[in-house]
Amino acid sequence: MRLVLLGPPSAGKGTQASMLSTRFDLLHLATGDLLREAVANGSSLGKKAKKYMDTGALVPDAIVIGLLEGKMKSTQSQTGFVLDGFPRNLDQAKQLEEFTDIDLVLSIEVNPGLLLERATGRRVCRTCGAVYHLRFNPPKAPGVCDKDGGELYLRDDDNEEVVKKRLRTYEEQTKPIIQHYESTGKLKRIEGDGSIDEVQNRLLAAIVEQWPQLDGLAHGPIHKKAAAPASSRPAMQGPRPQAQAQGQRQQGGQQQGGGRRRKRHRGRHRGRYNGPGPRQQGNN
Ligand code: AP5
Repeated sequence: MRLVLLGPPSAGKGTQASMLSTRFDLLHLATGDLLREAVANGSSLGKKAKKYMDTGALVPDAIVIGLLEGKMKSTQSQTGFVLDGFPRNLDQAKQLEEFTDIDLVLSIEVNPGLLLERATGRRVCRTCGAVYHLRFNPPKAPGVCDKDGGELYLRDDDNEEVVKKRLRTYEEQTKPIIQHYESTGKLKRIEGDGSIDEVQNRLLAAIVEQWPQLDGLAHGPIHKKAAAPASSRPAMQGPRPQAQAQGQRQQGGQQQGGGRRRKRHRGRHRGRYNGPGPRQQGNN
């Protein structure tokens, strides 16, 4: 299963991708997370990327694609992957086609009026990357991750001014790829308003439409292996981004359904992705 999740900033791509990756044992590949990890590590690549991220612009393709390819090549998956936040423009979509095939593109479409609040109310665990929302998914104790007690922080680019710029960037550069995928017949539009579980059920219905044999897995309890505790993603270990270290500690509210939690992998290789998982899986 090789999935792409599209959608505007804070549409719920990461939340939903995390739930799908747990249910179907997929590799969750989030370019935003890879970039934030590079920033937190203080690498020169991370420093370059941060300048773009802080203004709501896209990071240059070469940086993003290098990070993504490295992760895909270094990570084994027997069942496939879900891409979250990539591709972001037509060039990225075309380059993606050069190193892997995609089976299904799910575009999460949310009433634009909801997006700003989803972004500015988001809080992320510095240790494991779990995502909360002050209003929609508050943690049990303010500012503290339910899963591991890690500190919850506000992303540098989740302030109103940058969120508005990210929304414009999405309209201008990312939205056109919806048409691109529509023309390939691989696109399904998913209504993103409503609760996290409601949106997840719509995504699952679209997946079952594509792979009817997954009906039991989509509606039944989560597979034992997939349901095992995810390895903690040391999302923000290493030097803290300056603004966060200076006290952007924010109060949070409760772990969201499905808990968005991302895993971390390293490595960097070039060439077309031929990993055993997606390739063995074929289109079934
Ligand atoms: P990235 O991290 O990818 O940001 P984004 O696309 O703006 O997406 P978000 O992470 O903001 O939101 P999401 O859709 O994952 O929503 P979430 O599930 O967290 O990228 C950041 C930056 O990195 C970019 O601006 C760019 O500079 C750079 N970048 C990344 N990829 C790049 C690429 N490919 N090329 C170039 N540059 C790149 O949910 C949001 C909040 O809402 C959470 O609090 C959640 O709890 C809540 N929520 C989710 N669903 C619901 C619901 N149904 N109801 C109520 N609340 C909900």
